[in-house]
Amino acid sequence: MLFDTHAHLDEDAFSQDADEVIVRAVASGVTTMLAVATTVESSRATIALATRFPNVFASVGIHPNYAVQAKPGDWEAIEGLASSPKVIAIGETGLDRYWDHTPFDVQIDYFRRQIELAKRRDLPFIVHCREAEPDVVAVLRQMAGAGQLKGIMHSFCGRQATLDAALELGLHVSFAGMFTFKKNNELRELAKTIPLERLLVETDSPYLAPQPQRGKRNEPAFVRYTAECLAEVFGKTLDEMAAITTANALRLFGLSGEVS
Ligand code: NI
Repeated sequence: MLFDTHAHLDEDAFSQDADEVIVRAVASGVTTMLAVATTVESSRATIALATRFPNVFASVGIHPNYAVQAKPGDWEAIEGLASSPKVIAIGETGLDRYWDHTPFDVQIDYFRRQIELAKRRDLPFIVHCREAEPDVVAVLRQMAGAGQLKGIMHSFCGRQATLDAALELGLHVSFAGMFTFKKNNELRELAKTIPLERLLVETDSPYLAPQPQRGKRNEPAFVRYTAECLAEVFGKTLDEMAAITTANALRLFGLSGEVS
């Protein structure tokens, strides 16, 4: 039983066979998938998928790299879509200094708005962080105030200080295909410092498939390879790690009792 907490099922890479990809995932033990949105159109698409498949849930939000394209009314649309029945998260949001698509102040504005919306709806938010670790931590600290946050550091591949700050603020940490890459020993070492109850797994499909599928189009069925690698790091079996990460996801998304 696995939960892929981050899959871009609405993207072009899946336009021909999204249904088969979802069926294949379920058949291989991925009982739940979160279809993650990047724009308003994408948010409508993830909700449409979630409406058709009982195993698929949706996030709604605006990715930092697409915030520059947001039109008047888009933000209000996201706020409205956030109350759709199968929406269980806000994002993906966050900050990205690698791609220079959106002015940084605009990225910060959308990041803050999405954290606020997530708080209002009592949903977790999904954080994308690329070459912006201190900036992400600063926004998180500011938004947390004296409290805790409900969110996910998605496809985490950052430094120990960032990890420590995120954990201290209450966030969960999700690992994707990169976690399995041979060169990423440091990341696997750092993972050992994460409490078991904060761990999640994801594919971030269609991007960066895990070993031994590296180079192929990624899909939710492949989340087992990342879970397997994480299990090894913690000295657990795949079944044990699947049970731990799935229980964590169900608890975080408020789905305990709803999905079996
Ligand atoms: Ni993503």
